[in-house]
Amino acid sequence: MDKFVIRGGKRLCGEVEISGAKNAALAILAAAVLADDVSRIENVPNIRDVRIMVQIIKEIGATVRYINKNTIEIDARTVQFTTIPDALTKRLRASYYLIGAMLGRLGKARVAMPGGCNFGTRPIDQHIKGFEALGVRIVTDSAVIDAKAGQMIGSEVYFDVVTVGATVNVMLAAVKARGQTIIENAAKEPHIVDLANFLNFMGADIRGAGTDIIKIRGVDKLVGCTYSIIPDQIEAGTFMVAAAATGGDVLIKNVTPKHLDSISAKLIECGVTIEEHDDCVRVIGRGRPMKCNIKTMPHPGFPTDMQPQMATYLTIAEGTSIISESVWDNRFTYVDQLMRLGASVQVEGKAAIITGIPELKGAPVRADDLRAGAAMVIAGLIARGETEIEDIHHIDRGYEDLVEKLTALGASIERVSIPDPVIDPIPAVTANVG
Ligand code: EPU
Repeated sequence: MDKFVIRGGKRLCGEVEISGAKNAALAILAAAVLADDVSRIENVPNIRDVRIMVQIIKEIGATVRYINKNTIEIDARTVQFTTIPDALTKRLRASYYLIGAMLGRLGKARVAMPGGCNFGTRPIDQHIKGFEALGVRIVTDSAVIDAKAGQMIGSEVYFDVVTVGATVNVMLAAVKARGQTIIENAAKEPHIVDLANFLNFMGADIRGAGTDIIKIRGVDKLVGCTYSIIPDQIEAGTFMVAAAATGGDVLIKNVTPKHLDSISAKLIECGVTIEEHDDCVRVIGRGRPMKCNIKTMPHPGFPTDMQPQMATYLTIAEGTSIISESVWDNRFTYVDQLMRLGASVQVEGKAAIITGIPELKGAPVRADDLRAGAAMVIAGLIARGETEIEDIHHIDRGYEDLVEKLTALGASIERVSIPDPVIDPIPAVTANVG
C-alpha cells in the first residue's frame, strides 16, 4: 500500500500536459469489441481503470497490444466469451459497457453487478429499460445481469434521468440493431460525443451526439479504425483548481477549452484569471478566492466530478459558499477528511455550506474515492505543513503520473510505501502438563 506525502504552501507554476479522458477511454475500449477487426486507440490514459478494462477485454478473447504507454491496439477478431469474471467487474463500474458491446457483437452477455465509487445508490434501471426497448431479454438478480438478444430492433428510448452510463450502453447496442434507435433525454457529455465519433469512424451511423436526442441507424458490420481520445476534462479541471488554489500560474496543455467552460466560469467568479487559447488554458491564481455557489448538473452544467476539488478550494474563500450536489445522492463523504485539516463545512442533505477560513493545516487524511482523493491532494497542496493521504489506489484509478506532473509544477509530493503493520505471530500452543 502507498500513501502520498505532501508539504503544502508551494505555488504551482509552469506547464502541464493533460492525458486522454478516462471516461471516454472506458467507453471506447468497450466499443472496440464491436468490430470483427483491429482498432488502434491513441491518447489512452495509462491509469488503473483503463488497465482493468483492458484486462476485461482480454478475458473475453480479444488480443491487446500496447504500442506505447498511451496507444493500444485491440484485435477483436478473437472475441468469443460472453461472461466476465466477477473479480474484474467489481473493480470497475464501466465494466457494464461490455453488456452493450457484447450484445452488439455476440448477441448476449453475462456480467456481474458492477462496483465503482460509492455515491449512494447507483441503479441500472435505465440501462435495462433501453436494452429491453431494443428487444433484449434481461434477467437480473442482486449479483448478475444476464442479457440475451436475437436480432435487436431499433426503437425509441426515453431516459427518465440524464445518464451517461445508460446513454453509452444503449448506443453500443443500438449501432448493431436493425433500423433506427432514437435516444431522448440523452447525456451530452464530451465523452458521449467522443464515443459517437469513434463508432462513426468504425462505420456506424450516429447523429445528434452532444444534444439530448441521439439518432442511431443500425449497421450490419463495423470495421477497425485508428482514433485518438479527447483530453480529460476532469483532469484538466483538477489542475486548474490546483493552480488557482496555490495562487499559481499554470499553462494547462492538450485541453479542449470549450469542455472547461463551466469550470472556468466558476474559477473566474472566485477571482481567478483564465486565458483561453486553442488547445490550452492558462490559470493565474490570486490570494484567497471570493466565495461562490455551485450546483452540479449534467453537461454543460458544472460537473459533479469537479465538486470535491472545488469545495476544497472554497474552504479558504473569503465568505460562505454553498455547493449543491444534484447528480449523486451522497457525494460529500470527503467532508469529514477536509474537517481534519481544519475546514469549516456543514453538510445538509445534498448541500454543503462552506465557511471560508484563512488556511488549512496539514493532517493525515484518506482518499474515500477518486475525486475525493483529488480533493485531498488539492487540500494538501494548500495546507500549511504536511498532509499524508492514504488509500491512494482510488486516485490511481483516474490520474496518470499525478506525482510527476505536480512535481514538475513545483509541488512537494511523494509516493511512499506503507509497510504492512507488524503483527505478532500466533503463539505456539504449549501442552498443558499441569
Ligand atoms: N441513474 C439512474 N438509473 C440508471 C443510471 C443512472 O437513476 O440506470 C442515476 C444515477 O443514480 C445518478 C444519475 O443517474 O443519480 C447519473 O448517473 P450516470 O449514469 O450519468 O453516471 P455513471 O454513468 O454511472 C458517469 C461517470 C462518473 C460521473 C457520472 C456523472 C463513467 C465511467 N463514470 O457515471 O464519473 O460522476 O457519469 O457525470 O463515465 C468519475 O470519473 O469520478 C466518475 C464517478
